[in-house]
Amino acid sequence: MEKTPFYITTPIYYPSDKLHIGHTYCTVATDAIARYKRLKGLDVMFLTGTDEHGQKIEDKAREAGVTPQQFVDHIVTAPGGILDLWKLMNISNDRFIRTTDDYHVEAIQKIFRKLYDNGDIYKGAYKGKYCKPCESFWTESQLKDGCCPDCGRPVTDAEEEAYFFRLSKYAGRVRDLLVNTDFLEPRSRVNEMVNNFIDPGLEDLCVSRTSFTWGVPVDFDPGHVVYVWVDALSNYITALGYQNGRYDDYDTFWPADVHIVGKEIVRFHAIIWPAMLMSLGLPLPKKVFGHGWLLLDGGKMSKSKGNVVDPYILAEKFGVDALRFFLLRTFPFGSDGNFSNELLIQTINTDLANDLGNLVSRTTAMVGKYFGGTLPAGSGATEDEKYLDELYAQARPTKSEVHLSFNFPEGDPVKYDVELLCAALQVRDAYETAMEHFAPHTALAEVFKVIQRANKYIDENAPWTLAKDMEANGGRLAHVLYNLLETARICGILLTPFMPDSCEKLFAQTGADENCRSWDSAAHWGVLPETAAVTKGENLFPRVDMEKALAELEQASEDARKAALPPIELEPLLTEEVDFDTFCKSDLRAVKVKACEAVKKSAKLLRFTLDDGTGTDRQILSGIHAWYEPEDLIGKTLVAIVNLPPRKMMGLESCGMLISAVHMEKGEECLHLLMVDDAIPAGAKLC
Ligand code: MSP
Repeated sequence: MEKTPFYITTPIYYPSDKLHIGHTYCTVATDAIARYKRLKGLDVMFLTGTDEHGQKIEDKAREAGVTPQQFVDHIVTAPGGILDLWKLMNISNDRFIRTTDDYHVEAIQKIFRKLYDNGDIYKGAYKGKYCKPCESFWTESQLKDGCCPDCGRPVTDAEEEAYFFRLSKYAGRVRDLLVNTDFLEPRSRVNEMVNNFIDPGLEDLCVSRTSFTWGVPVDFDPGHVVYVWVDALSNYITALGYQNGRYDDYDTFWPADVHIVGKEIVRFHAIIWPAMLMSLGLPLPKKVFGHGWLLLDGGKMSKSKGNVVDPYILAEKFGVDALRFFLLRTFPFGSDGNFSNELLIQTINTDLANDLGNLVSRTTAMVGKYFGGTLPAGSGATEDEKYLDELYAQARPTKSEVHLSFNFPEGDPVKYDVELLCAALQVRDAYETAMEHFAPHTALAEVFKVIQRANKYIDENAPWTLAKDMEANGGRLAHVLYNLLETARICGILLTPFMPDSCEKLFAQTGADENCRSWDSAAHWGVLPETAAVTKGENLFPRVDMEKALAELEQASEDARKAALPPIELEPLLTEEVDFDTFCKSDLRAVKVKACEAVKKSAKLLRFTLDDGTGTDRQILSGIHAWYEPEDLIGKTLVAIVNLPPRKMMGLESCGMLISAVHMEKGEECLHLLMVDDAIPAGAKLC
């Protein structure tokens, strides 16, 4: 049977800086949905990529002293770059598009010409405001406190000859699409779009620039480059082969089933993109889902704020799967969520180490201890349980229908079996409903209810007590353990899209081979062979020591921050001139250190007794204890300015100041006292 195609995309990322945990959130979520669809048997095309043109990139490349192409190549392909990050995070994209790829550039030129030929692009003059980091045009009235309403950064004046796209022409059709269909989700985003952008009047969109060159040239008007968002949005069709010969998947996969995007770029995907497609006469994507942001301390993460969280550090410390899981288990996908390391560690300890990890390790350990790793034949599903499985396969029975069918007396341990089975047999449906509504956090919550039920089942059945009399209770014990293995198998299948590698290990430990891992089998009981080989392997999710891990994380971010700093930073030279007479007023002298000691109760100050050639000792206090031990300075010849007015510090008088050289090295202040040749006599004037 032909598989149903499913096309899902992430935004294509700007390769202007290293990606942070917020970008990772978006891609991991899309990856989990793509994997879920593959698990269900769909023919998935999962696209991601990089959005490499625009003024911001051109400027950054200039600052770095390289060409824009070299600049983006580095960020995309160098070790630790975007491709590496997706590999590390186990992202299963089927295709990766770069907007500098030749086939894409060629297709963009054709698309631009098509829009022009359709009469939807005309030449005019652009005058307004431009936000470089967001590559967005704004009118004066759209600004927020004079700044970009999306990112809050200052905008610049922009005025130049430009082509315009007749966005206004499509306002009615786009409004209708948003209001009267479920094209855009969550629904709250529809109101944002309609109230903030469409109803106040949709203006035509400036779609070419002449003030920089790093973009796709308009082939019929050299000097113009295509506006980066027209270039970027079109990636969703050029990556399938639209208007190019590189791929041939357009007919199979377009229209896309869903574009997953962050909330700040919903505007481009839900207004501009449909309007462009309407103009091109192409079908519209079936859905745009605008997810929320991961916030840090309640605010947006950004490189300029210096508060980005590095996914490499977290993945290395806690494991890729734990990080993927945390992102999707904790934050409802459509809303903003506050990221914190504490929350991450708590989630790992509670859900992964305590609940899932314990279920698997306790169960496999007991199968090993009591049955040598293989349960006896006959420990699998009972006739009643097979009947229950059938009941669920036909319809989802209510709890009372199940109780009626079984009618077990109070205290009968079979009651626990039935409860566990019912929880496990209904979870796939609940999970599916949540995943179909882009609610991975709800899907995971459903799975964890079952895992918690299974841990309770262990306590209810107390296998360690049953094991005391194997002759009498061995059969029951084996059945209890089989039920636990079967629950772990079902949960493992549903967790695979979120934690592929860990679930692979879970299956290996619980003896669930390929035949027991399918989507279909996740809704059935009794699939695992009774005599499957069970092994207690490594702990799937070790507990994290919160305090220790937080301190290590802080250190790791500090190290990373320092590593990213320029090696040496010098104070900029002063541009203001000083006249010669003023300069000569500073009396700089060679001085010899006769004595030096730390000032009591001060962490910084050293007290110097100096020979300045006058025959009377001079006292100078200097805040340099962080760099020098007093005993190392005795006998040295230093330089001091001696005609500064005396100053009191910590109750002591300082008559002058010692001269030092200072610079920053890897973010730390470095200081070197100016020491001169000891042959220079005390009191010699420096001029
Ligand atoms: N290049 C455009 C997208 C073009 S799509 C045709 C762009 N790139 S981006 O690199 O700035 O952002 C990519 C995605 O990362 C966006 O969906 C954005 O919302 C998401 N995120 C960036 N920071 C984020 C958080 N802190 N939290 C969640 N997602 C965030 O926009």
